Amino acid sequence: MTAPADLFLTELAAVLGSGSVLRGDDATGYAVDGRGYSVGDDPVVVRPRDVAGVAETVRRCREAGVAIVAQGGNTGMSHGTMLPVDRPSILLSLARLDQILSVDPDRWTMTVQAGVTIQAVQEAAAAAGRRFAPDWGARGTATVGGAIATDAGGNNVVRYGNMRDNVLGVEAVLADGAVWDGRRALRKDSTGYDLKQLLIGSEGTLGVVTSAVLKLVPATAHQQSALLAIPGLAVLSELFELAQTSAAGSLSAFELLPDVAIDRVVEVFGHAKPLDSGTDYFVLLTLASSETVEPRLAALLEAAAKRDLLVDAVVAGTPEQEANLWGIRDHASPTACFVGFQHHGLKLDTAIPLDRVAEFVTGVQSRAAAIAPMALCYGFGHVGDGNIHMMVLPTDDDSVEPWLAVRDELTASIDELVFSMAGTLSAEHGIGLLLRDRIGPQKSDLEWELMHRIKAVFDPDGILNPGKMLPPRAPNA
Ligand code: MLT
Ligand code: ZN
Repeated sequence: MTAPADLFLTELAAVLGSGSVLRGDDATGYAVDGRGYSVGDDPVVVRPRDVAGVAETVRRCREAGVAIVAQGGNTGMSHGTMLPVDRPSILLSLARLDQILSVDPDRWTMTVQAGVTIQAVQEAAAAAGRRFAPDWGARGTATVGGAIATDAGGNNVVRYGNMRDNVLGVEAVLADGAVWDGRRALRKDSTGYDLKQLLIGSEGTLGVVTSAVLKLVPATAHQQSALLAIPGLAVLSELFELAQTSAAGSLSAFELLPDVAIDRVVEVFGHAKPLDSGTDYFVLLTLASSETVEPRLAALLEAAAKRDLLVDAVVAGTPEQEANLWGIRDHASPTACFVGFQHHGLKLDTAIPLDRVAEFVTGVQSRAAAIAPMALCYGFGHVGDGNIHMMVLPTDDDSVEPWLAVRDELTASIDELVFSMAGTLSAEHGIGLLLRDRIGPQKSDLEWELMHRIKAVFDPDGILNPGKMLPPRAPNA
């Protein structure tokens, strides 16, 4: 990457205060994420303490033509915070904007700065007798700002939606350094274009979110999960329908777990293996409510067994068993359990219309078997949302080279399958650089053109996360 001029950085550091501009070893924690991915060589990290500091940084960068890549907890999956290589840039960390500004149980909201972690939000909501529903494995590191930027989802989307559904208002610094305070706490507001929704999922290309009003939901004092061994993917639709109807509104997670990932997590992380059923796939589901859910879960399992939708099941009877099941789920990502090989692998964040999930998973598996027989292929994740993380990766050193020789061919073949099924390549991880050049066929040129025009309105000089998210104009022409 190219660093801004020394004088620019010296003046910026003087205005923002000590510890605000980091380079070299001091910047490493921001430059490399937990999976070992780097945002670029020798980045300049700027860490303002407050909104005024963010605004000042953006204003100065615009004047000097310096590109700004905003960073939250550095847990992104789509290379959305890689620094441009062809122009001066800074990594703008929101880590020091880490204050919970207010918890308002009577409004059912919380107002927090962008650098607060998802777990801190969940805990503050719980302390006030409420719940912040979005949740995923990186909860302890991922921040509100990054989650808003990517419209993150996770395990509870099936009931509560993704970030888009859980943010009522935002404050953002715009490309000219102006601060837009759109932190409204309204559940309904039909006054014109929803600018907040434009910023959510915009991956730092339209503005830098500095704080947000988050929606809270009723606490669910009673929660119980079960792991169901299923006879095959073909039962998924019927099992999901049964779960939704018999849980009477309390179904808050419906996740797919493959046997191969469970075994790997048990081996690597020492979790207890919950079931030994010999089936390829399992469904992990959770019911949560303000009143006991045990009878509903028992009835659901009984009905599922009667209809041959499961071959075996285990119910978490204690908090430890509950933690074991969800610990397995949190670690099921190859990012956690196939460290070393996951860098080479093909990882998908696909969503498909709900009625076609099984067809999609088997479609990917048969393409992988034909094109990349040396690789392991499995799907896991948020199957109740139609959001399946398919993974194809080598799992031993000898397979790496032959796999790399066919990876692009398989990628193109799977992308084509996703588009043909009216799916999306990104359900919750964003586009970043990873998908930018693959995403074009998913939308018409007209739709991309409208996005380019919106980008030009918000960021006429193109300083905000340049080169990310938007494919080049008219990608399908
Ligand atoms: C998950 O569902 O585990 C996350 O999206 C992370 C991942 O896909 O690796
Ligand atoms: Zn996920």
